[in-house]
Amino acid sequence: MARKTTNKLLQKAKETKSDEFYTLLSDIENEVQYYKSHFKDKVVYCNCDDPRTSNFFKYFVANFRGLGLKKIITACYRKQTNDLFNTEKSEKGFFFEYTCAEQEQNRIANPDIKHFKGNGDFRSAESIALLKQADIVVTNPPFSLFREFVGQLVKYNKKFLIIGNINAITYKEIFKLIKENSVWLGVNMGRGISGFIVPNSYELYGTETRIDNLGNRIISPNNCLWLTNLEFHRRHQDIPLTKTYIGNETSYPKYDNYEGINVNRTQDIPMDYTGAIGVPITFLHKFNPDQFEIIKFRKGIDHKDLSINGKCPYFRILIRNKRPILLSNLKLVN
Ligand SMILES: C[S@@+](CC[C@H](N)C(=O)[O-])C[C@H]1O[C@@H](n2cnc3c(N)ncnc32)[C@H](O)[C@@H]1O
Repeated sequence: MARKTTNKLLQKAKETKSDEFYTLLSDIENEVQYYKSHFKDKVVYCNCDDPRTSNFFKYFVANFRGLGLKKIITACYRKQTNDLFNTEKSEKGFFFEYTCAEQEQNRIANPDIKHFKGNGDFRSAESIALLKQADIVVTNPPFSLFREFVGQLVKYNKKFLIIGNINAITYKEIFKLIKENSVWLGVNMGRGISGFIVPNSYELYGTETRIDNLGNRIISPNNCLWLTNLEFHRRHQDIPLTKTYIGNETSYPKYDNYEGINVNRTQDIPMDYTGAIGVPITFLHKFNPDQFEIIKFRKGIDHKDLSINGKCPYFRILIRNKRPILLSNLKLVN
């Protein structure tokens, strides 16, 4: 089999495996805290979430009054044979709507679920009908359907806060949204997301795995991020820049196939460079759209990967500083 096809199959297998990574409550708390003001009087939809087990649903029930929510809708895809909580043979998906009247506490212990006619696929007309009622979607969707999931949220003009794999940034559909500033990275990413509960069938390997005190099998892949279109304060804070290009030109080689300099670490971006700067994709975690503009991803003018003396650094994003500081222009006042 051709190498490219094998790689694609391996990638697909990885994605399908991570379709069954279940989010920890602590990671949801750590992220949602930055967006609290967005939830007042809003309908939240967790559209890949079994109300009986999802920590997203648990979080929003526990914080219903604190966030001032109007309603939570949670929908569960039909049971799969490799599903973590597979206890039923039902082929029908189901959903649950929660509005937090005092008496509803009983319904949490014994949820009054409603069955879909179909399997509850987030792309189904039934699930989309619920999506239309919602203001904000918050979930960890199946990674193998991530592009479609985001595409649907954009199509229906929904606010969202979702978990994905860091690789998702490199998908052209997702990068386009980031470039046009309609989607951005959330606060936590990589090691900032502590782990996921995985099914018993999932093979635990390496050191990044553990079993918690409830017996949950936890894996910490360190390659996930939050993607959102909800504003938060830190996104508008400047990345502190301390380095200069002038006087250090040899530290910033130019690309063979694009008029711009290469920078390997975000903290080394020079404050005084006015042209295009190639930075690693992790830059997006610190990206402030008031400070920088994103020009393009990865390719030079020849449509090949950016290269320096014939060698390609790992994926680069080309950016431009919107307000470079030229030291020669600074007037020192006593
Ligand atoms: C990564 S898991 C996360 C589950 C839950 N949202 C959480 O964070 O704990 C993705 C979930 O989406 C479900 N799923 C898979 N395909 C789906 C689809 N087409 N529509 C809706 N849900 C789907 C899977 O069964 C799985 O429960």
